[in-house]
Amino acid sequence: MNFEEVKNLLEKYGQTHILKSYERLNEEEKEKLLEQVARIDFEKMKDLYALSQTKVEMKDAVIEPMAYQDSAKLSAEEKAEIIQLGEEAIKAEKLAIVTMAGGQGTRLGHNGPKGTYDLGLDSHKSLFEIQCDILKNAQEKYGVTIPWYIMTSRENNDDTVAFFEKNNYFGYPKEATNYFFKQGELPMMDEQGKLVIESNGFVKEAADGHGGVFEALGRNGILNDMRARGIEWVFIAGIDNVLVQLVDPLLMGYAIKNNFRIVSKTVPKSNPDEKVGVFCKKNGKPYVIEYSEISTEHAHMRDANGELVYGEGHVLLNLFNVSALEEIEKFKLPYHVAHKKTSYMNEEGEFITPEAPNAYKFESFLFDAFSQIPEFGLLRGKREEDFSPVKNAEGTDSPETARRDYINYHNK
Ligand code: UTP
Repeated sequence: MNFEEVKNLLEKYGQTHILKSYERLNEEEKEKLLEQVARIDFEKMKDLYALSQTKVEMKDAVIEPMAYQDSAKLSAEEKAEIIQLGEEAIKAEKLAIVTMAGGQGTRLGHNGPKGTYDLGLDSHKSLFEIQCDILKNAQEKYGVTIPWYIMTSRENNDDTVAFFEKNNYFGYPKEATNYFFKQGELPMMDEQGKLVIESNGFVKEAADGHGGVFEALGRNGILNDMRARGIEWVFIAGIDNVLVQLVDPLLMGYAIKNNFRIVSKTVPKSNPDEKVGVFCKKNGKPYVIEYSEISTEHAHMRDANGELVYGEGHVLLNLFNVSALEEIEKFKLPYHVAHKKTSYMNEEGEFITPEAPNAYKFESFLFDAFSQIPEFGLLRGKREEDFSPVKNAEGTDSPETARRDYINYHNK
């Protein structure tokens, strides 16, 4: 698009403030800004702004508990049989891992991609290396090299790749690791529906949430690559859980035995008010209710054994059959709106750092895809073996708690 075309487009959508910053750019930057504007789907942004102004309600939805299997209640024989099924599939090279490392890690506040964060262990291992250790162990145990795909964002891709290069891929074969792919982005909007301008004069875009993984796997040719390699199962996890069992024969065997196409490993909620999404069935389909969405009645409801009825926490431990990923890729996930504090350049060209949230960020969530796949199972794991994330700089879910849980687990 040339300048005139871009101007017309921006006039149509009430976004001409972008041209104020255009005038301050050099020739090369001007061209880049025109390219950026041409890429933006303004119709979609209009809808997203409307979404930011609407209150999302659960009314009319039928919410029911979802059945799960507690792994601790499997007999020794059942467990052995399931693990064997999983191990056979791993040895037959049916498994690939996707680590989602495209988030901004704002709460942790680490300068650099979250995966490069040094957890403070004696070994000074980063979160990436902690995950890579699991793959190296599996390589030794099963005699196969499991492909590792890493989702990054525009913001952190180069630093992530450089970190792997610098650390020699942590001793894992480079050809099994060198699959970095970037997730999508969406512009941020201010409270009046104007696109936010960055200090460099460009439109501020942000990663489109972990739900962006499905579209990104398709767009970057990863699903095709997996198919070509004969991969059948893909474990998709975040980067920040230091107890993540990336290679989990029990979870795989459980999916295979029951013909599930997605299985999620849950951990029981520590208390009714814990800020974690929980599984349920919404209108008969698998669903995760966020902690901000669940009614107090449902959050506290207990069964005859005293267990929380809605107590299976979704902690981003999900195994997908490739066929499920292919179906989900075609499905448009809904967006969620986050009200965020973000710095920006105003129309006078001044750089402003606000004191309070001033803009909307739009994200899709991985778990919104679950409703598409009826062959869905839940396996309850154990918090001390499966989940300890690094989210906050201090307090709960911080480097301190994650370090403690990591050391306890590995000492055991
Ligand atoms: P969180 O939602 O906890 O976000 O992501 P975050 O980026 O780590 O931290 P905050 O909220 O900014 O403090 C859970 C996992 O999903 C990934 C993250 O990298 C993390 O592994 N993620 C999240 C993405 O890959 N892309 C996204 O757009 C969002």
